[in-house]
Amino acid sequence: MEPVLLRARGVPNSRHIDTYLAAGGYEGLKKALTMDPEAVTKEVLDSELRGRGGAGFPTGRKWTFVPKEHPGPKYLICNADESEPGTFKDREIIEYDPHLLIEGIAIASYAIRANTAYIYIRGEFVRWARILETAIAEARQRDILGASVMGSNYRLDVWVHRGAGAYICGEETSLIESLEGKRGFPRLKPPFPAVVGVFGKPTVVNNVETLACVPSILTRGAAWFASIGRPRNTGPKLYCVSGHVRRPGVYELPMGVTFREIIEEHCGGIRDGHTLKAFFPGGSSAPVMTPDQIDVKADFDACAEAGSMLGSGGVIVLDDSVDMVEAAANLAHFYAHESCGQCTPCREGSDWAMDILDRILEGHGRPEDPATLLRICQYASQGMTICPLGDAFALPISSIVKKFPYEFERHIAAATPRPPKKLPVLPWAGPRPGFDGQ
Ligand SMILES: Cc1cc2nc3c(=O)[nH]c(=O)nc-3n(C[C@H](O)[C@H](O)[C@H](O)COP(=O)(O)O)c2cc1C
Repeated sequence: MEPVLLRARGVPNSRHIDTYLAAGGYEGLKKALTMDPEAVTKEVLDSELRGRGGAGFPTGRKWTFVPKEHPGPKYLICNADESEPGTFKDREIIEYDPHLLIEGIAIASYAIRANTAYIYIRGEFVRWARILETAIAEARQRDILGASVMGSNYRLDVWVHRGAGAYICGEETSLIESLEGKRGFPRLKPPFPAVVGVFGKPTVVNNVETLACVPSILTRGAAWFASIGRPRNTGPKLYCVSGHVRRPGVYELPMGVTFREIIEEHCGGIRDGHTLKAFFPGGSSAPVMTPDQIDVKADFDACAEAGSMLGSGGVIVLDDSVDMVEAAANLAHFYAHESCGQCTPCREGSDWAMDILDRILEGHGRPEDPATLLRICQYASQGMTICPLGDAFALPISSIVKKFPYEFERHIAAATPRPPKKLPVLPWAGPRPGFDGQ
């Protein structure tokens, strides 16, 4: 497949607006401006584009939820937080083709009748925030953004907003809270952001890769986009592959290639002398998959049918050198650190899971530990928390416990019971004259 999202990778001076314009850039926006906003949304609906941020929600459908007759402002937010472990695709788009993203943002904003768009980017991504600011300035200078977008009567301002670096702020409602200057605590849904979003106004939140797909849908048509992949799972997809493969990196492939093609063909297979043990198909929040699932298609529906999820498209590959209990502990440390603390099952559960996994690794595991881990994970998932961070920690950890029980048994069988903790004798713990009846 000829690259669509990464077509600028390797092109000299690819970030400059002139390079983008010379390659036919902003033609999609020009075309969109000649259409009704509803017709633009219809084109995206027909393309069957689904969100690339994790949940795979149909993009066009999300846009239709914005109330057309809302009297006040509406907003578009581009989610460039990209904090999911094993995910580094959005930065690849910004690195080589920031104007592709800006064009997607402009088309989406026009479709929902927003005059202000924000790009919310993780604070540590200083380089990419600067690239975006430069590109926005170029677009303003050429009147592609601003009071009269490409000479039309449509106004659009785009702002880069830097977060402070928290995984939870990638979740759309925490992102909105953070953008409003508050602590990044998720909101209860409904109401959904499309109805009550940033500053209480209708807001669409879309991922960088999702928005970068939009210009080509306008220029080449919905039918072309839908012809890539299979129904409900369409278009080009960025797979970012990390871990024990020979050639890790970001690969643009038609949606629905198999994990075997990704791992063996494109990434050159597992590093020398080792075999595949497991892989996370869509970032660290996705339930782990095993070598017998390598022929599963890397698309939304196939991953769900296989008991996992395509998530962010971050394929993390683990070879036979990996201790899966260590892998689970590694995840638990991340999620315990990143849980925002608002919901007890996530805040306490991730901490307890971390403590239990650490105890097993320290050689003090107990036979009941795997069952306790599963119970903790069950209470943190299945809608028990305001946002899906509870699921994000619980599902991968419980999948490891279920799929690799013998690794837990091995650690626990070799364990030595921990001596009972000696509690310190506190100076005020003794009998108090005159108070305790003495
Ligand atoms: C804990 C958590 C972290 C998330 N992090 C991101 C992120 O970094 N980038 C992103 O685009 N979506 C992230 N999401 C998903 C967003 O909430 C939202 O679904 C997405 O931005 C919508 O865009 P899309 O429809 O284009 O996929 C996260 C969700 C959760 C629960």
